[in-house]
Amino acid sequence: MTFSNRLISWYLENKRDLPWRNTTNPYKIWLSEIILQQTRVAQGLPYYIAFVETFPTVFDLANASEEQVLKLWQGLGYYSRARNLHKTAQLVAFDLGGNFPTSYQELLKLKGIGTYTAAAIASFSSNEPVPVVDGNVFRVLARYFDVETDISSTIAKKEFAALAYEVLDKRNSLQFNQAIMEFGALQCMPKNPNCSVCVLNDSCVALQKNKVNQLPVKLKKTKVTERFFNYLVFEDEHGNSIIQQRTEKGIWHNLYEFPLIESLIEFTEKEITDEINKVKFFSNEIISINAYEEKSILHILSHQRLKIRFWNIQVKGKLENAKSKQSIKKRPFPIVIFNFIEKYF
Ligand code: ADE
Repeated sequence: MTFSNRLISWYLENKRDLPWRNTTNPYKIWLSEIILQQTRVAQGLPYYIAFVETFPTVFDLANASEEQVLKLWQGLGYYSRARNLHKTAQLVAFDLGGNFPTSYQELLKLKGIGTYTAAAIASFSSNEPVPVVDGNVFRVLARYFDVETDISSTIAKKEFAALAYEVLDKRNSLQFNQAIMEFGALQCMPKNPNCSVCVLNDSCVALQKNKVNQLPVKLKKTKVTERFFNYLVFEDEHGNSIIQQRTEKGIWHNLYEFPLIESLIEFTEKEITDEINKVKFFSNEIISINAYEEKSILHILSHQRLKIRFWNIQVKGKLENAKSKQSIKKRPFPIVIFNFIEKYF
């Protein structure tokens, strides 16, 4: 049996029953693929179900507000995916008459769709013979064929795509692409895979050379920066508070947060009090400033480690632009702020 036949027969016996595998509707497949980028299946699944239920067609998604989309996306991270999802839905609904493209080349023209996602949608919806290359595919191919190319290099994607195309079952790209990704997720796992039960163990070069755990090669480490966020959670005499929308590019674009003071070190109560008095952007008299918790909360993103402290600030009178807690809770927040609100608000 060929490599692809073995993978497909393994897949048919071992695949997980996932809802986006029971459809060829490109809209639903697109939803699933955007949700699953940088996200594990277990985490993405409830979001997929919620999106399909709330927005059964591309028109429903296009007609929603961005805020509604972000609220449903809350907790999934990488929020540019949600904003691009919404923009692309509007383009497909209003400029393409609701006809979601299914060809690789047409899909590549859409916002938020790169080579991986275009190949996934094209093969899963119309069986177009284009190979998917994601982290799972890098790993399976690097090990099976003993490819030592650094997968963080620019040439890697081309090289692995060419290899994936070579082994792709051109008449059955739908199943082959699902199979190789599922095989990477369930059998050829990143750490300590159980090669003794692998259906490819008589021909896997990395296994023969005893270098399974050294492949794939990834040299470039992502640079991680540490940041200190101080959120000012005001409470005026009406019990109202202030939130703002993050408008700058970068993390959490268009999501809401409390007024923020970013510092270069972790602030004490005295330091934050001095800073608030320095930048004081409101005229109300301050009654008290207290930390909600003893320690900062560590929130880890792909390129940043955020140390976050929430400060309760009681003020006299009525704060300008303050909103009721009830209306604040309806906005989309980064999950770390949402969790704080659930606990303390
Ligand atoms: N991850 C990304 N796409 C996927 C898919 N179609 N099935 C399972 N996991 C995935």
